[in-house]
Amino acid sequence: MNILVTGGAGYIGSHTCIALLNAGYSVIIADNFTNCNRETVNKIVDITKKKLHFHEVDVTNERSINEIFKRYKLDGVMHFAGHKAIGESLEKPLNYYYNNVVSTLVLAKACLKYNVNRFIFSSSATVYGDNKTPFVETMTLLPTTNPYGETKAMSERILVDIANANPQLQISILRYFNPVGAHESGLIGETPNGIPNNLMPYVTQVAKGKLKRLKVFGNDYATVDGTGVRDYIHVLDLADGHVAAFQNTSSGARIFNLGTGKGTSVLELINAFEKANGIKIPYEITNRRSGDIASCYADVSKAKRELDWEAKRDIVSMCKDSWRFEQNLKENTF
Ligand code: UD1
Repeated sequence: MNILVTGGAGYIGSHTCIALLNAGYSVIIADNFTNCNRETVNKIVDITKKKLHFHEVDVTNERSINEIFKRYKLDGVMHFAGHKAIGESLEKPLNYYYNNVVSTLVLAKACLKYNVNRFIFSSSATVYGDNKTPFVETMTLLPTTNPYGETKAMSERILVDIANANPQLQISILRYFNPVGAHESGLIGETPNGIPNNLMPYVTQVAKGKLKRLKVFGNDYATVDGTGVRDYIHVLDLADGHVAAFQNTSSGARIFNLGTGKGTSVLELINAFEKANGIKIPYEITNRRSGDIASCYADVSKAKRELDWEAKRDIVSMCKDSWRFEQNLKENTF
């Protein structure tokens, strides 16, 4: 079966390409390499020892996307491509709305035109806003605090409406919690641009000595130790979740949380990292980061029930694999 993977050279997309190739699927990557490294495509091939096709295209370019649909007999699409930096989305909202929403529209239109029925969409737990934990798929979504989050909520809504009007479509909307970790080979992982915004990449850069100390954004939340609680999920589990979603489709648009169902505080994560890797992480407590919520973790029962999938890897392997990848990174890739 042929699967088009947009953003297949990115962090989650590349790990999913590996899972798809290992499961016997043919993979066609569409990526414009704006926020990732083209070397990743070769690394996917090195890791899996399998061939793949890739096209350097912008997914908002309808003509290029139609060419790909014409050229391959596609059985499905996984749409990862998108801008994802919260801060940047506040500075460049037009870019975010245009890129993230138009790419979804272009792909949905091509799916209808070329009779490709299976569609998997990368969404985010950010669409829940400040709901009460654990987050359940049926909750009313609350406004997010940034354009990035809004593009995810909008794309979800668009896909649900399109699926309702076209019952042949089988759409899975996957709401990711906090992906961390890297492939066990240490060859691919997350490579944020500049100073990382997310916790795990910041921790690994402190461990490496590239950053001096971690700032813990607030210790006065109503959580186990006052620091923010998140549902960290190993990127390899997330990748397997996509394969499960592709294999367990049904008519209409279905929404699934992909997380572990377990919350970990910032201090617990630091502690787990120190224990797993035997490295001290210097930190200081600072003010809360604006837009942050106290707690975010998933109710994962729907994915388990309907996709027969659940996350298997624990926080120790997340910390070890993140650190292995960071150690392998050459300085000039920062
Ligand atoms: C962030 C985004 C979210 C996005 C997700 C992708 C914000 C407000 N939210 O989620 O929309 O889907 O990334 O992975 O940016 N922390 C520190 N010090 C740091 C960095 C983070 O204490 O240097 C804390 C945060 O306050 C939070 C936790 O660590 O409690 C996790 O933060 P982060 O990795 O940025 O993820 P989210 O905020 O959950």
